[in-house]
Amino acid sequence: MPASQRLDEWKNNLNIDYFDRQFVTPYRSTVKFCEWLEDIGAMEKKSAMNILDIGTGKGSNIYYMNQQFPFCNFLGLDINDELVMQGNAFMTEQGITNCKLEYADLYSADLQKYKDAYNGIVSYQTLSWLPEYETALKNMIALNPDWIALTSLFYDGLIDCKIEIKEFQNADDDLNVRASFYNIYSLPRIEKYFQNNGYKIFKFTPFEIDIDLPKPEHNNMQTYTQKMMDGSRLQISGPVLMNWHFIYAAKE
Ligand SMILES: C[S@@+](CC[C@H](N)C(=O)[O-])C[C@H]1O[C@@H](n2cnc3c(N)ncnc32)[C@H](O)[C@@H]1O
Repeated sequence: MPASQRLDEWKNNLNIDYFDRQFVTPYRSTVKFCEWLEDIGAMEKKSAMNILDIGTGKGSNIYYMNQQFPFCNFLGLDINDELVMQGNAFMTEQGITNCKLEYADLYSADLQKYKDAYNGIVSYQTLSWLPEYETALKNMIALNPDWIALTSLFYDGLIDCKIEIKEFQNADDDLNVRASFYNIYSLPRIEKYFQNNGYKIFKFTPFEIDIDLPKPEHNNMQTYTQKMMDGSRLQISGPVLMNWHFIYAAKE
């Protein structure tokens, strides 16, 4: 585990709207990721699998997955107990019984209680926001799922980027700085990591967004798109090029 994971960004100053708005309109990446999981045969509409979502936030991703794969059981884990409580309240309000959330720390030994109980582990928009990937993947692999599938920032080359964003309130004020990682991980190295740990099948695809996202008025972090000459769209947030990819690693 990283010496200690900084938790400020997940406990304080949370942008709750980020979690709430996805219940109403799921992100295109969530929709496309679920379609991709079907395309590659990881999930089917009639699948009856146990799926664990790590870094679930309020559970909007499992809420969406449940609409697509209603025969599965979903458990979302998050380190923010307030989000977990609100997510469970939402599921109860909606009468949904096969989506539950629990407090859990990906880096805690307690995680082992989820071992051998899940066919698949998913994790949306989380790996790149952790200090590094090795411990996170090691701990997911230790739960012994058949497969692990993630959305995050990856690069198809032998380059890892450690990116730490600091959002300041004023040019001369170092107080109230919001810091978070936007790490970009090397796909060949991630593939090798999975292989070395018994997950021999590895698939990935870039997430090519098919809608325009307007550039915000402000210059802070918020994803927008810019059209390229060939019609594809670059995704940009503040100063970072968002290299979104979906990845899937399976034992066989
Ligand atoms: C960028 S958010 C993504 C949330 C959700 N997957 C989504 O797509 O809306 C990352 C989530 O990971 C959670 N998280 C961060 N560190 C964690 C850890 N060590 N164990 C469990 N969850 C963690 C945060 O609380 C946060 O809800």
